[in-house]
Amino acid sequence: MKKLLKLLAAAIILALFSVPVYAGVKIDGVIIQPGEGTTSAATVYYQGAPPFNIYRSLDGTQWTTGAAARTDNYYVDDNLTNYYNYYFKVEDSTGSSAITAAYPPNNNVHGSFRINSSLCAACHVTHSARGGYLLIQPTSVALCTTCHDGTQSKYDVRNGKVRLAEQYADTSGGPFGPLASSGQPVEVVVYEAYSSLSTEPVSLLPTSIHNLGTYISGAPGGVSERDRGLGCIDCHDPHGNTNNFRNLKTVIEVTYDVSVNIDFQAYARTDPDLTGGYGEDIYYNTGSIYFCSACHSDYAQASGSGAIAATATQIPGLELSAESMNKFMHAVNTPLIFRGEYYSSSLPLESGTGVNVVVCLTCHQAHGTFKTGQNRITGSTALIRLDRQGICEECHKK
Ligand code: HEC
Ligand code: HEC
Ligand code: HEC
Ligand code: HEC
Ligand code: HEC
Ligand code: HEC
Repeated sequence: MKKLLKLLAAAIILALFSVPVYAGVKIDGVIIQPGEGTTSAATVYYQGAPPFNIYRSLDGTQWTTGAAARTDNYYVDDNLTNYYNYYFKVEDSTGSSAITAAYPPNNNVHGSFRINSSLCAACHVTHSARGGYLLIQPTSVALCTTCHDGTQSKYDVRNGKVRLAEQYADTSGGPFGPLASSGQPVEVVVYEAYSSLSTEPVSLLPTSIHNLGTYISGAPGGVSERDRGLGCIDCHDPHGNTNNFRNLKTVIEVTYDVSVNIDFQAYARTDPDLTGGYGEDIYYNTGSIYFCSACHSDYAQASGSGAIAATATQIPGLELSAESMNKFMHAVNTPLIFRGEYYSSSLPLESGTGVNVVVCLTCHQAHGTFKTGQNRITGSTALIRLDRQGICEECHKK
């Protein structure tokens, strides 16, 4: 009997500590080791069925082989240029693959927790927390902007800048401005509990932003019932436990009954030449429309919606709001063709299906804009990517 118990205990211990069997490749994380000069080394840790092939890319579309038929569970690449984004793809013997991003010389605090649990301390503290969930700052917006004011991350979301090797350049996401609750123009409202505590200077005021602290239920063209203020963590997962671009959330709760699943795939290629106008060119692949229209469902209208009034719903389970019923809206998810004419445009398009299509992020920035040209009805520049005079001409060339 004693022997049996011992055996049982051994079996339980084995079950607890044995390596779990994964359905496919899983990347545990990346550790960056800054070098002496302008380069860094990255160690990528992964699990799956060996042997592994490792690939590297600067833009998520063109991949070069880093190593083939490896049997170790990590791979070292000691030749990364600082302030360039890198993507690593690990493929195992079953053909399954996974992708992760690396940002030398910085270690991304959103993830790699399995190999570096000390990273929790970047945001949580056990006995002297200032905010709920044991956060080291009173609110999540204050927390995010202690680093994303450009001090502990290359991304400065208040100025809308990204640090490159030789200069600072505009981000695709755009500027939030100081995120201060007082003394701001009406277009850039931030409610007090959503203020930043950063004292880093902000050089230019945006003309409109996603106003933090406004109720999510107030999103134009949306059917959300959620009466809590909009914050960074309503769009991003702080822990980065997602396979989405920019750690965007994989599930957005719209009403108490309906949630929308988000599969937003894109890559950010560092571009010191600023060919697209930003420090990073974003290659939008799939799913961005479903992200925006989780909160603004009415606007996800298909080809023809400029001429046929909207009466139905676009995302399963979400109804068109009463204000938008029988209105006409600019189509999204539509190729660059109108009445047989093919448009060309320098605005970003989504290309995951092999056809370039117009999406919300073609015309809008996600955080805010410096551009001008207020809408006469709403009095806002509505996060547009180009000055309003320019944005329609960019495609229609009337
Ligand atoms: C970049 C900052 C950041 C890091 C790093 C971080 N957290 Fe969090 N964590 C947050 C924020 C912000 C919240 C609050 C989320 C909310 O209000 O919904 C949170 C919430 C939590 C919660 C409660 C809610 C939930 O999502 O389960 C737990 C548990 C948690 N964190 C554990 C951890 C652990 C463990 C680590 C390290 C392995 C870690 N966190 C690392 C920012 C962070
Ligand atoms: C301790 C500092 C720190 C805090 C706090 C922090 N971040 Fe980050 N964040 C980073 C670093 C470092 C990176 C990696 C990119 C870089 O700066 O080189 C990063 C990257 C990101 C990215 C881009 C990720 C990607 O995969 O492209 C997003 C989005 C982001 N953070 C959002 C947030 C949000 C939202 C919060 C608040 C919940 C937050 N961060 C809090 C340091 C921080
Ligand atoms: C309404 C949703 C939303 C909110 C709120 C939001 N983000 Fe983002 N964020 C996005 C999207 C979408 C992108 C990708 C935009 C792109 O590449 O065109 C992004 C991009 C980023 C990036 C990458 C750099 C860039 O701007 O392109 C960082 C860092 C980031 N967000 C941090 C934050 C922080 C910190 C907050 C809160 C102060 C925040 N975000 C609030 C949706 C949001
Ligand atoms: C989590 C919910 C949420 C998501 C996701 C979201 N928004 Fe919003 N959005 C809001 C709320 C709430 C408002 C109202 C607050 C405001 O006017 O700034 C708003 C307002 C706006 C406005 C009007 C701003 C103005 O000044 O008139 C635009 C434009 C906009 N969103 C575009 C987008 C785009 C594009 C995306 C996808 C990248 C997106 N939103 C994703 C919640 C969201
Ligand atoms: C072809 C460019 C274009 C596309 C595509 C586009 N928008 Fe807009 N959007 C604008 C302009 C311009 C405005 C400012 C209103 C105006 O001047 O007509 C605006 C205004 C808004 C507003 C503010 C409220 C309002 O109606 O004025 C929201 C919210 C919004 N857009 C969300 C979205 C979402 C979500 C998508 C994707 C489903 C999207 N937009 C796609 C150009 C576009
Ligand atoms: C990125 C390219 C692009 C931009 C920018 C753009 N459009 Fe369009 N527009 C299109 C395409 C493509 C169609 C055809 C949509 C369809 O298939 O229904 C279209 C259709 C239209 C239509 C015809 C609707 C119909 O069904 O008859 C009007 C009107 C229009 N756009 C106005 C505007 C205005 C105003 C702006 C600036 C706020 C704008 N567009 C910006 C690409 C663009």
